[in-house]
Amino acid sequence: MSERRAASAPIGVFDSGVGGLTVLAALLRALPAEQFVYLGDTARLPYGTRSAGSIRRYALQAAGLLHGSGVKCLVVACNTASAVALDALAHEFAPVPVLGVVEPGAVAACRATRSGRIAVIATESTVRGGAYEAAIRFERPQARVSAQACPLFVALAEEGWIEGPVVEAVAHRYLDGLFDAARADGRPDTLLLGCTHFPVFAPVLRRVLGADVAIVDSAATTAEALVRILAETGLRRVAAGTGGVRLLATDGAERFARVGANFLARPILATEVEIVDLTKPHA
Ligand code: DGL
Repeated sequence: MSERRAASAPIGVFDSGVGGLTVLAALLRALPAEQFVYLGDTARLPYGTRSAGSIRRYALQAAGLLHGSGVKCLVVACNTASAVALDALAHEFAPVPVLGVVEPGAVAACRATRSGRIAVIATESTVRGGAYEAAIRFERPQARVSAQACPLFVALAEEGWIEGPVVEAVAHRYLDGLFDAARADGRPDTLLLGCTHFPVFAPVLRRVLGADVAIVDSAATTAEALVRILAETGLRRVAAGTGGVRLLATDGAERFARVGANFLARPILATEVEIVDLTKPHA
């Protein structure tokens, strides 16, 4: 158990790598006066192919470092860690609020779908645990959900390959079956990007799927949920002036800066990225 933090404290955000920067970009737009600390656990990426036990341990260590740096709330900008470790994180760091991206993603998909047929693409671990099916059915009990693990997308995204023939071929391989018009349960009208690494592929996915499929992710609805939580808990920063971001990674500052720029949609200098060690005990 920890203590409640002041509204002037920063907000901690973490992912296994640079993918969560897509969520951070939405948080910065929604909350321009807040200070953020973003941590990418690049030394241990990907999380999505690991066992639930390893993901939980990594997520607790990542959140522990942010908590030790004095953040007032935690945003788990990783679907894999949200699906597997949200309860453990909320328990460990209470009363510091912990917000995951799975519930906001389910809300975004349920708002977008007309037919109630939703396809989810995510990491192996997120798909295996069925967290999205449960979250979507909680919002819309009649929804029909199909899910597909797309681990190669994480590798491509971290490599900075976000378009071109290789990405398109991989997209066809993963999506053609999911969106087959002859499916007995009907073609989905909505694709939920259930991994924070995937929004950078939206232009390619749009070309592959055509204009009639809504493509949604959890970034904007996570920002909405965070605005609500800060208001409800009285933790919104009221100080005048603009906020900012501190960037942390567990390995490869230069690579984080180069590839991360695609995700944050602004240039990142390698000198902005501090390398931290999650295996050392922190306050
Ligand atoms: N970005 C992460 C997610 O949203 C996971 C990528 C990975 O480490 O496998 O699930």
